[in-house]
Amino acid sequence: MNTPPGSHSSIELPSFPGLRSSVCPFDPPAEYTRWRLDTGLPRVLTSHGRTAWAVTRYEDARLALSDPRISADVRRYPVMAPSAQDAEMPPAFPRQDDPDHARTRRMLTGEFTVKRMEAMRPQLRGLIDRVLEEMTAEGRQPTDLVRAYALPVPSLAISLLLGVPYENHAFFQEHAATLARLDAKEDERTAARRELFDFIVALVKHKEREPGDDLISRLLVERVATGELSHEEVAMIAQILLHAGHETTANMIGLGTLALLCDPHQAARIRDSDDPGAVAGAVEELLRYLTIAQDMVWRVAVEDLTIGGQLVRAGDLLTISLPAANRDGFFRNPDDLDIGRNARGHLAFGHGIHQCLGQSLARVELQEAFPALLRALPDLRLAVPLEEVEFRHDMATFGVHELPVRW
Ligand code: HEM
Repeated sequence: MNTPPGSHSSIELPSFPGLRSSVCPFDPPAEYTRWRLDTGLPRVLTSHGRTAWAVTRYEDARLALSDPRISADVRRYPVMAPSAQDAEMPPAFPRQDDPDHARTRRMLTGEFTVKRMEAMRPQLRGLIDRVLEEMTAEGRQPTDLVRAYALPVPSLAISLLLGVPYENHAFFQEHAATLARLDAKEDERTAARRELFDFIVALVKHKEREPGDDLISRLLVERVATGELSHEEVAMIAQILLHAGHETTANMIGLGTLALLCDPHQAARIRDSDDPGAVAGAVEELLRYLTIAQDMVWRVAVEDLTIGGQLVRAGDLLTISLPAANRDGFFRNPDDLDIGRNARGHLAFGHGIHQCLGQSLARVELQEAFPALLRALPDLRLAVPLEEVEFRHDMATFGVHELPVRW
C-alpha cells in the first residue's frame, strides 16, 4: 500500500468507506461495528488516498459536528488545497465556517422552512403523479426505476424551486454524477464544477433580465440589488442547491424503494396507511436505516482536541461516518428496519451548523414519493435477483446505480 500524502504513519490502514456485504448491502460495512465497539475513532485511508480519523459513534459524531474547534473548511488540510481554478470561484458555504457560513445560510433558511415546503406539497404531489404516468405510459418493462422515477422527482422539484429549466436536467445529472464519483480525478471534478458554474452564471444573468417567482430571482432582487451578494455568489449558491437537491434525494428514493421491495410487509404498511404521521415516521426510519451519506462529511481539526478519548491533532482530517453513527446503540436494535419506531435524533441529515438545509424539502418529497409509487404500482417488484443490482459503493452517497423493476 502506498503512503498517502499527509500520512502520519506508514502502517497499513483500513480503507474508508469500507465495502458492504453482498448479503445485506443496506448495512454499513461490518468493520464499522467493530470500530464503534473498539476505539470508536480508527485511523483510516480515505478514498482520496489520505489518512483521517473516522468518527463512528453516535455521541462522538454529534460532538464533532458541533465543536467550533473542528472546521468544515477542509482546504485548511494541506493536501486538500483548492486548485487554481477552484480558487477563482466564490467559496462554497457548506465548506465555510461561521461567521462566513452563517452569513449565506441565513439568506437561505427562509426558503426552506417546514411551512414553505408544506405549501409546496400539492405541487410536488402533482409532479410525482405526472412522473408516474409517464413511466407507466412508456410501457417498457423492465424499467430502470432510477432513471424513470428516482432521479426525475427530485430533479423536477429542485428545478421548480430554483427556477432552473428542467430541459437541462441531463446536463446537470451528468455533472452531478462526476462530482459524486469517488474515483473522479481532481481535474475531472474541477472541470465539472467549472462547466456547471459557467452555465449557471449565464442562467443568473438571464434571470436578472427576466425574473420569475423562484429562489434565484428572489436572491437577485433581494440580495444582489442591495449589494449583499454578487452574481457569482448567487450562481455558486444555485449550483450547490441544484447538486445537493437531487443527488441525495434520488438515492434515497432508489435505495428506499429497494429496501421496501425486500420487506413487503413494511411496504404494505406504507402503501395502506392513511395516517400522514405514520408515513412521516417511516421515512425517518428509512433515512436512519439507509443513511446514504457514506463519504461526504469531512472536517479538519483546527486545534488539538480529544474525541471519545482519542487525541486529535490540529490539522488532522476527520470523516464523520453517519451510517456508522446511525447504527449505534442509541437506537434499540439499530440494525433492524422498523418503520414503526421513533427514529428521532438520527443523523442522516448531519448535525450542527451544517445540518442539511434542504431536509424539509427532502422529507416532503420522500413522504409523497414512496406511498405514491407503492399505491400506483401495487405489484411493483425487482426484475433481477438482488445480487445483480449494482450498488453505489463507489460514490459519496450510497444507493443503486440502476433498479430494474416490473409491475
Ligand atoms: C447538508 C444529507 C437533501 C441541501 C447536508 C448534510 C447531510 C445531508 C448529511 C451535512 C453535510 C456536512 O455536515 O458536511 C442529505 C440527505 C438528503 C438531502 C440524506 C435527502 C434525503 C437535500 C436537499 C437539499 C440539500 C433536497 C437542497 C435543496 C443541502 C445543503 C447542505 C446540506 C445546502 C449544506 C448546509 C450547510 O453547510 O449549511 N445534507 N441532504 N440537501 N444539504 Fe442535504
